[in-house]
Amino acid sequence: ETNLDKALEAIRNGEFVLVFDDDDREGEVDMIIASEFVTPKSIATMRDNAGGLICNCIHSDFCDEIHLPFMVDIMEAASEKYPELAKLAPNDIPYDERSSFSIWVNHRKSFTGVTDHDRAMTISECAIMMKEGRFDEFGSTFRSPGHVCLLRGADGLVKNRRGHTEIGLALCEMAGVTPVCVVCEMMDGETGQATSVADARKFAQENGLILLKGEDIINKYLED
Ligand code: 5RP
Ligand code: CA
Ligand code: CA
Ligand code: ZN
Repeated sequence: ETNLDKALEAIRNGEFVLVFDDDDREGEVDMIIASEFVTPKSIATMRDNAGGLICNCIHSDFCDEIHLPFMVDIMEAASEKYPELAKLAPNDIPYDERSSFSIWVNHRKSFTGVTDHDRAMTISECAIMMKEGRFDEFGSTFRSPGHVCLLRGADGLVKNRRGHTEIGLALCEMAGVTPVCVVCEMMDGETGQATSVADARKFAQENGLILLKGEDIINKYLED
C-alpha cells in the first residue's frame, strides 16, 4: 500500500491528510479533509495545529451548478460602479497566475458564524447539499458575507492549476467522496512563517497522518 493509497483511505474515513504543494509555489503544507465529514472537532484541530485560513474548496462542476463566481470576477463586475476595485486586481501574485478565492459564507442557522460549531455546520452542510444535488438551496441556506471562505476549483482541477484547492479536490475525486474539501495552511508561531516540511513531517508522524507532495497527487491524477 503506497502513501497515496493510505491518503485516499484517510480521506474516505474523514481524516486529515497533509499536503506540501511545491518549492516552486507557496511552499506550504495544508491540512486537508473532505468537507462532508467535518465536525466542530475538525475545526478546533485546524485552529490549534494549522492556524491558517479555514477554506472550503468546491469542485468547478458544483460551482457551475450554484453559479458561484470567483471573487476577481465579482470585483471586476462591481468596478463599473466602484472604480477603485479595478485597481485591486490580483495581477501580481508571486506564486501563481490566479487566486481561487470566491465569496465568504455562513450557514443561516449560524449565530456569529465563527465558532467551531458554526463553521463545521457551514462547511459540512455545503458539501452534503452538493452531494445530494440540492443546488437551488444554496442561496436560501447560506448568507454572505460570512466566516468561511469558499474557493472555486479550476476547471479540470490540477490540469489547469496546481494549488491546494485543486490538489484537495483531486484527492476527493480519487477517493470517491464528494469533491468539496477544507484546506488550512500550517503556520509556525515561532518563526512567523509557514511550517517547514520537516516540522510538518514530525507532526504527521506524531499524529498518525500521511504527508504527501502535491506532485505525487497531480501525477497520479493525470495518469488516470
Ligand atoms: C487559502 C489559501 C491557501 O493557500 C489554500 O491552500 C488555497 O490556495 P491555493 O489553491 O492557491 O493553494 O490561499 O487560505
Ligand atoms: Ca495561499
Ligand atoms: Ca464577528
Ligand atoms: Zn495553498
